[in-house]
Amino acid sequence: MRGRRILLIVGGGIAAYKSAELIRLIRKAGGEVTCVLTRSGAQFVTEMTLAALSENKVYTNLFDLKDEVEMGHIQLSRQADLVVVCPATADLLAKMSAGIADDLATTLLLATDKKVLAAPAMNVRMWQHPATLRNVARLRGDGVILLEPDEGEMACGEYGPGRLPEPPAIFAAIEQALAGSKAGAADTRLAGKHVIVTAGPTQEPIDPVRVIANRSSGKQGFAIAEALAALGARVTLVAGPVGLATPAGVDRVDVETAREMQKAVDTALPADAAVLVAAVADWRVEPNKAKLKKAGGPPDLAWSANPDILAELAASPRRPALLVGFAAETENLLAAAQEKRTRKQCDWIVANDVSGDVMGGDDNEVHLVSSAGVETFPRAAKRDIARRLADRIADELA
Ligand code: CTP
Repeated sequence: MRGRRILLIVGGGIAAYKSAELIRLIRKAGGEVTCVLTRSGAQFVTEMTLAALSENKVYTNLFDLKDEVEMGHIQLSRQADLVVVCPATADLLAKMSAGIADDLATTLLLATDKKVLAAPAMNVRMWQHPATLRNVARLRGDGVILLEPDEGEMACGEYGPGRLPEPPAIFAAIEQALAGSKAGAADTRLAGKHVIVTAGPTQEPIDPVRVIANRSSGKQGFAIAEALAALGARVTLVAGPVGLATPAGVDRVDVETAREMQKAVDTALPADAAVLVAAVADWRVEPNKAKLKKAGGPPDLAWSANPDILAELAASPRRPALLVGFAAETENLLAAAQEKRTRKQCDWIVANDVSGDVMGGDDNEVHLVSSAGVETFPRAAKRDIARRLADRIADELA
């Protein structure tokens, strides 16, 4: 960080005050900060605060830059090592994504030839709005490093993702970006690729109120969809009934039954890869039209087999080039995974032991079983496991 120059664009929002802490962290580590305060940012933090903390002139609008001789906007945007937008509002993201340059901040963002890192902060509904999701996906495709917002209670009283990450986390991402490491260097290896991901359980109705379900939370599949989108892929996420937010930049199709899931996967084809994480019910019953009554005694359910989405996709002429299945097992993990890989004719099986607290939990340990052998991803957060898998997929599709 020592001697590195950060151009910090402070957008409008309650979280703008956290940019002061970010400046302090950068300065403490020996970095230099030049701030650009947007008009709405100035409603939340003063020019004086930013100037005092950065010990630098703060730029506030296009006409500040007296003339192109002293410090033109092109020069200002290019003399930095990294451009950081914090907080990045929905409005700023939209303008960045559309290439609008109607004030100093957006003009700099359009004129810069440097890496841009944006830390979004906004109301949860704004973050999850299809327009924002679209903008986020497009910006990631353009190579912008977009941090995931934190989840929690928001200043407006609502709960969910949208909070600005804490300044130390943003600082760490800045360091990573400056170091040009893989994670920070806007890795878009999957740009132009389409990946289908299935996630969550399926539910098979018994009658209008009862279903056959399973304990899958969908967390691992959603994290994989998120990690693939972060590498620039177009992702179709076919989700069973789960209570999870749609990851940024992902197209989501909600389904209930195995047959609906298969149809949604089919509709989403063609794809370069498919990662079938869903815990699909193997059997279904013919649902009773009316609610079964207790007085009728234990029902006699007539079971039939559900389609095997993975095996049928593997045998289909529209088979994606890379087909990845999951094997959730409680015993003989690797042997069962190997057997499943052969039986279902997929390229890779990601095997995980679900005898412990994996289902519904936030951590996982998996083994990637392929023709090359077995690679273990040691116990880590599901999002980290997802990133490793996405990285392997990107290598494979390269
Ligand atoms: N799968 C699928 N359609 C099904 C069943 C499973 O697409 N009807 C997929 C899962 O998404 C997963 C893989 O197949 O990627 C393995 O799922 P699993 O439930 O472990 O396989 P089963 O065939 O049910 O094997 P078993 O019951 O013998 O463990």
